Amino acid sequence: MVRSASLLLSATGLTRLAARSALAFEVSERETPLRRLSRTFSDLRVLHLSDLHLGSRLDLAGPLRQVLEEVTCDVAVITGDFRFRERGSFDRARTELDAIVKGLDPPYGIHAVLGNHDRAADMTDIESCGVRILMNESTFIERQGERLWLVGVDDPHLYRLDDLPRALEGVPADDPRILLAHSPELYQEAAQAQIDLYLCGHTHGGQICLPGGLAPFVQARCPRRYARGAWCHDGVEGYTSRGVGASGIGARLFCPPEIVVHRLVGTKEPRVPDRPSPERREGTAPASRTEKLTAVSESEPLATAPGK
Ligand SMILES: [Fe+2]
Repeated sequence: MVRSASLLLSATGLTRLAARSALAFEVSERETPLRRLSRTFSDLRVLHLSDLHLGSRLDLAGPLRQVLEEVTCDVAVITGDFRFRERGSFDRARTELDAIVKGLDPPYGIHAVLGNHDRAADMTDIESCGVRILMNESTFIERQGERLWLVGVDDPHLYRLDDLPRALEGVPADDPRILLAHSPELYQEAAQAQIDLYLCGHTHGGQICLPGGLAPFVQARCPRRYARGAWCHDGVEGYTSRGVGASGIGARLFCPPEIVVHRLVGTKEPRVPDRPSPERREGTAPASRTEKLTAVSESEPLATAPGK
């Protein structure tokens, strides 16, 4: 398929255009209302990157870092495929990843899952750059005593080592959760597991497309409507990123690389704060309503699930 794409580009004289397109990042922000998300989390900005495919001939790190400097977010997620080549040293990819994430400093951290190009042995290098890999496990963001869970599974496409039930262990049934997976192929399991938002990549949106973005090939075991952009399945809001990098060849056609910020909108009423104990009421009563409101609206730092 890589060879066919290269031949097609050179036969049509589109090689240069496709190489330039591979670095023409499209940045978008989308509003995502989630039914089970409390208003406490309203306007939380989730930066979604996918399929970086680092260590290729594309000089991705410099231009990408420049673009990311203009992006603000509360938490960042990377849905797999850090590597360009499935084998060989990760050193160059690690250097590029380090340069890219240095420009990010989201208060709730950078979380990721592995893709079909990645190796388990790369985890230490990836985590040394400040990116936490969720390998069939979960973590949470906490604000005012309420939690939003990030649930990450191993690659469901090639290795098929995803274990969503295990990843959800310890996640309370009523708490909202975002699933990070490399590909969209778990859309049915996600609905059963009451996933609120499903973020993934893998398909590259086709990468080499026809005018209008029509993809001749999409390598995923799911209907095409789940293979690119926003979708919804049985209560699950999903987004399949076209990805940031390119695989096989350093080229894209009618399918620009994308960086997405999902601005979450909570629609559920926030939990009523616990009534202060009599001791607290006597000793530390707020001096004014303003002070009380300030105390209640302060954010809590990111916490990690016990034992994970
Ligand atoms: Fe990929």
